[in-house]
Amino acid sequence: MSPPEETVTTGNNSSVADGPQKVVLPITPFETYPKARAAPKELIGVEAALHAAKNPDFQAVSTIAGQFSLKDKVAIVTGGNSGIGLEYSVVLAELGAIVYVLDLPEAPSEDYAACKAYIKKLATGGSLEYRVANVTDGPGMAKVTHEIAETHGRLDVCIANAGILGPVVDCHEYPADWFRKIMEVNVTGVFLTAQAAIKEMLERKIKGSVIFTASMSGSIINKDMHWIPYTTAKAAVVQLAKAFACEVGTNEIRVNCISPGHIRTRMTEAYLGVEPLIENCWAAQNPMNRLGSVYELRGTVAYLASDASTYTTGHDLQVCGGHTAW
Ligand SMILES: NC(=O)c1ccc[n+]([C@@H]2O[C@H](COP(=O)([O-])OP(=O)(O)OC[C@H]3O[C@@H](n4cnc5c(N)ncnc54)[C@H](O)[C@@H]3O)[C@@H](O)[C@H]2O)c1
Repeated sequence: MSPPEETVTTGNNSSVADGPQKVVLPITPFETYPKARAAPKELIGVEAALHAAKNPDFQAVSTIAGQFSLKDKVAIVTGGNSGIGLEYSVVLAELGAIVYVLDLPEAPSEDYAACKAYIKKLATGGSLEYRVANVTDGPGMAKVTHEIAETHGRLDVCIANAGILGPVVDCHEYPADWFRKIMEVNVTGVFLTAQAAIKEMLERKIKGSVIFTASMSGSIINKDMHWIPYTTAKAAVVQLAKAFACEVGTNEIRVNCISPGHIRTRMTEAYLGVEPLIENCWAAQNPMNRLGSVYELRGTVAYLASDASTYTTGHDLQVCGGHTAW
């Protein structure tokens, strides 16, 4: 059924000689919309300044750093044993969170152990814990996530970061088994991780933040790198985030993507280590003419994981040196 139409008068785009234009817009009757939820109110920023102007005894305190705090929060990070996931885990723990790193190896890496010790020395109140988990194992992910949420009575942040890249093969020759494997880890794995975490958040009425590591490859095709399943999978991850975000928005659970550009990690080293000239090819495709370092994702994950981003959801935040601008 087509919506009712209403005639409105507008002066937009009209010259003085033409006078106001009559346009017809299809308008859903406003009374059919549900009542809007109230926007939250906090005595911070401009509100605090205006309050202080009328209340001289009001203690002026800067709150912006505190908005990024994850003190007493609990987080899980898949694929956190190395690379981007390990950096994300350190950021969350630096901000005060108890962070559970979920990854495949029976024993965590030396890099993880060094980070765990470093976080302990920083004494932020945060910590790193390690659990073996495979993101493609739905019941396993549900179990480990539930155990963590039960232990602390909460789960605030979930980063579905585990991923694999696969070989470069021309599209008409790409092995179907590899295609399936990459979709299984990079798409089904993200779905199962988010599903497990959101279930715990909903049951506990937690205003959680769920973050997917997608990729700029979800929006563009990597020139000269024939990675058809990887780019396809990452595009699916971007849509997955939007779909989850739209279902749980009124529960104040936010779901966003971080889409890195070319970052030097174990994953990309598999190519850069074999053919160093690939670096020039990748770098030349962004306006900054360089690859990114893992630490350059720190601010982005701090923003999305914390209360600094309470009105940001369904978003794909690209951190790619402007690669997608060209
Ligand atoms: N490095 C880049 O340039 C780049 C760019 C864009 C996106 N990404 C994405 O960032 C994420 C992390 O990649 P990285 O570069 O840090 O590489 P990485 O290889 O260092 O990290 C990937 C991690 O995922 C884990 N993992 C793989 N399969 C798993 C499974 N089934 N269950 C649990 N853990 C699993 C690995 O053990 C590893 O610790 C990936 O999703 C990747 O696609 C990387």
